[in-house]
Formats: sequence, C-alpha cells, structure tokens
Amino acid sequence: MDRKDDILILALETSCDETAAAVVKNGQEIESNIVASQIDWHRKYGGVVPEIASRKHLEFINPVIAEAITEAGIKFEDLSAVAATYGPGLVGGLLVGLSTAKALAYAMGKPFIGVNHIAGHIYANFISHSNIKTPVVCLTVSGGHTDLLYFINPGSYDILGRTRDDAAGEAFDKVARFLKLGYPGGPVIEDRARQGNPAAINFTRALINEDTYDFSFSGLKTAVINYVHNKNQKNEELNIADIAASFQETVIDMLVSKVLKALDEYETRSVILSGGVAANRTLRNRLKEELKPTGLSLYYPDNELCTDNAAMIGSVAYYKYVNRDFSPLSLNANPNLKL
Ligand code: KG4
Ligand code: ZN
Repeated sequence: MDRKDDILILALETSCDETAAAVVKNGQEIESNIVASQIDWHRKYGGVVPEIASRKHLEFINPVIAEAITEAGIKFEDLSAVAATYGPGLVGGLLVGLSTAKALAYAMGKPFIGVNHIAGHIYANFISHSNIKTPVVCLTVSGGHTDLLYFINPGSYDILGRTRDDAAGEAFDKVARFLKLGYPGGPVIEDRARQGNPAAINFTRALINEDTYDFSFSGLKTAVINYVHNKNQKNEELNIADIAASFQETVIDMLVSKVLKALDEYETRSVILSGGVAANRTLRNRLKEELKPTGLSLYYPDNELCTDNAAMIGSVAYYKYVNRDFSPLSLNANPNLKL
C-alpha cells in the first residue's frame, strides 16, 4: 500500500538498444521494470544500428510505459516525477525517451529529472544492496563506458581512470563480431571461453604496468584479429574457445589490476561492479578471489539490473528528487555525457 509521502518515479531509458520504463518507489523499491529488447533486430548486423534503434524506441516507448504503469498498479496522477536518461548514448534513442518524459512531466505538471546513464549503472547496486559501506571503489564497465571511480558519498565521484579508446563491452562485441559468434558479444564469448584455455594465447595487457588508472582495449581487438589472420595464413586450425578464453582473461586482468591498484592507494570499505560487463561471472569470481585477502566485500547488481534498464535511472532520479535537483524542459540529449 502506497503512503502519501512515498516518492514514485516513472523512469525511461532509451540510450542504446533497450526501450525501458520502470516505476521506482523511494529510490529502492521496484514497482515495475519493463525492458523491450531490440537485440533481435540488431543481431544480424553484429551490433546496434542507430537508425533502427531510434525507430524501434519510437514504436516501443508508449506500450512499455503503459505496461510499467499497469504493472505498478498505479495511475499517472500518483507519480511524483518523470525521469529519463539524457546521455551518454545514441542521440536518436536518447531523444525518444527524453522527449516522452518531458511531455509527460509537462502535461501532468510534475517535475522532470534528467539522469546520467552511467550514474544509473552505479546506483543499480544501491537497489540490489542496502548495506554498502563507503568509501567505495567502483568499476563500471559497459558497452559504451569503462570508468574506475572512488567515492565517499554516492553522488560525488572522483574519476580515477577511464578507457582511452574502446569500452570493455565494446571489445567483447567487436571480437565476437570478428569471430562471427553473434551479438551481444559478452555472453557468447563468456560461454565459448568455458571450454577454452585462458593461458593459451598471451595477448598484451595494455597499460597494466603503467602508473595510470586508465584502460585501453582497442589494441587487444587488433591483436585478436592479427592472431587469427596469422593462423589462417599458415593454414593452422583455429581454436575459438582458446581465443575467447585468452581474450576474456586479458580483459579481466586489465580491469582487475586497476581495481587492486586503487585499493592500495585509497582507503576503501567496499568494491562495486556495475554495467553490462558486470554480468560476466568469470570477472566477478576473479574479483572475489582477489578481494579475499583484503576482507572487502564485492557488490554487483542483480542480473536484470546489470544490463540496461530503467529502474536504475529511477533510483538516481529519486536522490535528485529529494535534493530538488530538477531539470529544465530545455535539457537536451548529450551523447557524450561524462560522469
Ligand atoms: O550496460 P549495457 O547493457 O549497455 C551499455 O550501457 O552499453 O552493456 C552492454 C554491454 C555489451 O557490450 C555486452 O557485450 C556486455 O555489456 N556484456 C557482457 C556480458 N553481458 C553483457 N560482457 C561480458 N560478459 C558478459 N557476460
Ligand atoms: Zn548501459
């Protein structure tokens, strides 16, 4: 039963290839979380086609909102505010969610709240876990971003490092496309890697020994391509499972080394993992192992909150709502928005 002072937020997420709407109560309780995935339309191209994404968002957005409201068992009038992702992401998709949220907020005379998608991925952890102790080292890894953050209070982050080129998920997607394994690349590579030997091929771990928290994955993608061409030229058989396992191990080594470096330098009580790549079990298990001697807990969101969804956007919007941090209706989409 909703109380009068409950804060109910309708949140929309359309930055990539999921059209999503959620109703979130008081920042943590998910009343509904609807995700219409467009993966089937993009799969045959081996990646997201922006024009197709925009059209599908337009087609899906209203039914997805209607379902989110019905499943939450509320009426539009019960909402406290309407929120939407305004970046980073594909501009066409962002505009669909943003314009819809603004129109709804305007029509209902309710506040509108623009949310940074990456902050959403981080806050997904605060929906799944209520006991995260700060200060936190947070690795947020997705198809569009790879950032290492340190924060004492959620809301004010220090960015320790970020990728200088491709995002970690993008590397999974590009390597999977090159190996013709399908899209999205992360889950298929993780699956194939299970039968492979992670030490079979020694790919270079970029920046791993350098005094930086930055990442770089584009050289690794090229290394995989060169390795395959080389084998083909020599007419040698390819072991796809070994390539997948060695590639995945290299990405994990690069990510984990920077987390451990941060733990050496910053007083930390918890480590959190977020973004689509946080769904990778091999990465989670490796981080858990590495954290054992430190006694620190590792948190990651429930699986459905790891990949793109609107509940995470509703959670960020709640904290903005309580701070009266509303956005003007003139807020534009920002495809390159940073944290
Ligand atoms: O957060 P997300 O749904 O969308 C973006 O904000 O980009 O993340 C999607 C990314 C894709 O690159 C996908 O390949 C990757 O997350 N991903 C994974 C796994 N599941 C999804 N990467 C590695 N292992 C996985 N199991
Ligand atoms: Zn995302």
